[in-house]
Amino acid sequence: MESYVPEELAGANEAAVPDEASTDSAAVSASDIDVEIPLLQVRGLSQRFGPGCAYCAEPTIRGEESNRCPRCGSIWACRSLSFELYPGEILGVVGESGSGKSTMVKCLYFDEQASAGSMTVSSYENGSVNLFTRSAQQKRYIRNHVMGMVYQNPYLGLRMNFSSSGNIAEKLIAADHFHVGRIRERAADLLGKVEIPLSRMDEPPRNFSGGMQQRVQISKALANNPPLLLLDEVTTGLDLSVQAKVLDLIRSIQRELNVAMIVVSHDLGVIRMLANRTMVLRQGLIVEQGLTDQILEDPQHPYTQLLVHSLL
Ligand SMILES: Nc1ncnc2c1ncn2[C@@H]1O[C@H](COP(=O)(O)OP(=O)(O)OP(=O)(O)O)[C@@H](O)[C@H]1O
Ligand SMILES: [Mg+2]
Ligand SMILES: [Zn+2]
Repeated sequence: MESYVPEELAGANEAAVPDEASTDSAAVSASDIDVEIPLLQVRGLSQRFGPGCAYCAEPTIRGEESNRCPRCGSIWACRSLSFELYPGEILGVVGESGSGKSTMVKCLYFDEQASAGSMTVSSYENGSVNLFTRSAQQKRYIRNHVMGMVYQNPYLGLRMNFSSSGNIAEKLIAADHFHVGRIRERAADLLGKVEIPLSRMDEPPRNFSGGMQQRVQISKALANNPPLLLLDEVTTGLDLSVQAKVLDLIRSIQRELNVAMIVVSHDLGVIRMLANRTMVLRQGLIVEQGLTDQILEDPQHPYTQLLVHSLL
């Protein structure tokens, strides 16, 4: 699998053997490369649904094309996914329905216990521990400080009967902020960022439109300034004009706060607009990953070609 080369270093490989005419190659030194430490590193993430049997003990299922075991019916929804995410970067994840996109982010957010694999985040214990093996209490801490999640279905991410400010307060309290005045100030600030009128901050999200609910979810996910945000089909089901607003918002948050994001979408327009790099999933496997422009303009894998040509 190809490893990520930051944009400003792309082409450094060709420059590594200096040719006499070129003096530019000296600009890229080994220490420049060391500076880029991945925020998130995922190795061999696999998730099986079903009891499993001797035949499907490994995610490869003995060379079967499908991710479904022909003997016991178990499904390997994610099969040995390995990738990294750099600080402030947006990684797009695309693939047809059932390719394992939601399962992947749910495993990263500990909504589901991954069957195998490891995950490290550089801002937690210097990236030295596999987060999948942490205690439930530590996982709660990580969910409150290191990651934010925006679900496709806002009912999963919000308490619809709490006030919007209360939703944010809940997240702040979980991170040991107890000063009522400051909590309110922060809630107002966050809701302002996502353009929810202050006059409505005490209304429950159940009163809001779909686009507004997604914006409250985004502000809640950002409450404790996590370096990593996971967004699953965040614009799916919204009107085109509302979609555009939510996408603009995500872009400006990324620019302003430099949050790294994993953006899951089956909409290649969304991926084109947001993602620096893109990963293509099929039947739980990564079939292709690279710079978004390259993936969309010049897809190499037949499956990506099909996806790009049928959907663009
Ligand atoms: N809780 C579960 N129990 C059993 N199978 C599951 C479960 N969750 C997901 N799966 C299966 O895992 C595979 C991947 O599902 P997943 O929801 O991750 O796909 P997706 O790429 O997010 O699809 P979509 O684009 O439709 O949201 C599918 O075959 C699905 O049926
Ligand atoms: Mg999904
Ligand atoms: Zn099986």
